[in-house]
Amino acid sequence: MLDLSKYDRVFLLTDELVAKCCQPVLPLCGVQQSAFSSQLVLPAGEEQKNIQTVQKIWDWLFEQQATRSSLLINLGGGVICDMGGFAASTYMRGIAYLNIPTTLLAMVDAGTGGKTGVDFGTPLVKNGIGVFAEPVETIICPELLSSLPAEQLLSGYAEMIKHAILQSPEALAELLEYDLRKVATPAFGDVIRRSVAFKQSVVEQDPHDQGLRQILNFGHTVGHAIEALLLAKSQKSAKPHGWCVMYGMVAEAYLSHMICGLPTETVSTLSRFMLENYGAAPITCNDYEALLQLMLHDKKNKEQGTIVCTLLQSVGQPVTGQTVTPQQLREALEYLCSL
Ligand SMILES: NC(=O)c1ccc[n+]([C@@H]2O[C@H](COP(=O)([O-])OP(=O)(O)OC[C@H]3O[C@@H](n4cnc5c(N)ncnc54)[C@H](O)[C@@H]3O)[C@@H](O)[C@H]2O)c1
Ligand SMILES: [Zn+2]
Repeated sequence: MLDLSKYDRVFLLTDELVAKCCQPVLPLCGVQQSAFSSQLVLPAGEEQKNIQTVQKIWDWLFEQQATRSSLLINLGGGVICDMGGFAASTYMRGIAYLNIPTTLLAMVDAGTGGKTGVDFGTPLVKNGIGVFAEPVETIICPELLSSLPAEQLLSGYAEMIKHAILQSPEALAELLEYDLRKVATPAFGDVIRRSVAFKQSVVEQDPHDQGLRQILNFGHTVGHAIEALLLAKSQKSAKPHGWCVMYGMVAEAYLSHMICGLPTETVSTLSRFMLENYGAAPITCNDYEALLQLMLHDKKNKEQGTIVCTLLQSVGQPVTGQTVTPQQLREALEYLCSL
């Protein structure tokens, strides 16, 4: 049971969908509804992740006279965790917050690591404003996943595969063989906690993202470009973040083979897993140049005209800061499209 006795009051932030699907499940996670002094239910969606919504959260906390000894609980996906974490860590110079992530992506990624914030600017910069601030705790409760659509589940699973491939052959084998129908079970809770522990160990060594933490970008150079391209084509062709990371990991595994000697078996195993669970990447050879342009503008590149990736020498042995040529990237995209 969660000990909330050291806080004068506890506030709950959530979104409309989560309030409906997950709030009734909260007692299974050791949290009673009676613990909350007040709750704010926001509309769901990334469009809400902005400074105007943060202002609504601050207004609510002021109206409710939250103090420096109060706690904000974020119950929701990455949007609620990121935005609630930011609102809490700036309200009265920072009050404690706790995350109860309800999507798999938020459990393994957004809910830990201390990155909080909102999208900002014109054109919109994702996570353009934010602060590093750790939650006092992140509660992993796999029962909350029972209402999550399969597409969202697979999105988070891709980030777990990423952690595993960076960690060890054993961690990767466990996930490749896991029966995905058993995710809302306590046994899966342990698998999630191991994935989170890996991220946590990386974050602890590099809390402000200046070095080692960059290994967590594996799959994201190509993945972010695919995500942006699909979104630019139409809202309908857009894919969840983790799906694009899955496609990106296959392309970057191929690059890792070309540049760092990653064994071909690893590239084939990952490719097979992608095809079986996510299907072929929704891009064609007509997209290569647009994808390259997006990658050339990635903020991780230090020099103009270069593309920098995290690659792998082997499973469990990532290398950051690898410069990749546009021609090598074309070859990797060709491989991805041939699958
Ligand atoms: N801070 C970090 O380190 C970090 C890392 C990765 C991603 N993120 C951020 O996380 C966000 C994406 O997170 P997300 O994918 O969780 O999106 P999200 O929070 O928008 O949730 C996705 C949708 O699922 C619904 N939902 C949530 N839990 C549910 C459940 N159990 N059952 C049914 N529906 C449920 C939500 O209402 C929402 O409509 C992005 O804004 C991204 O920038 C942050
Ligand atoms: Zn990601």
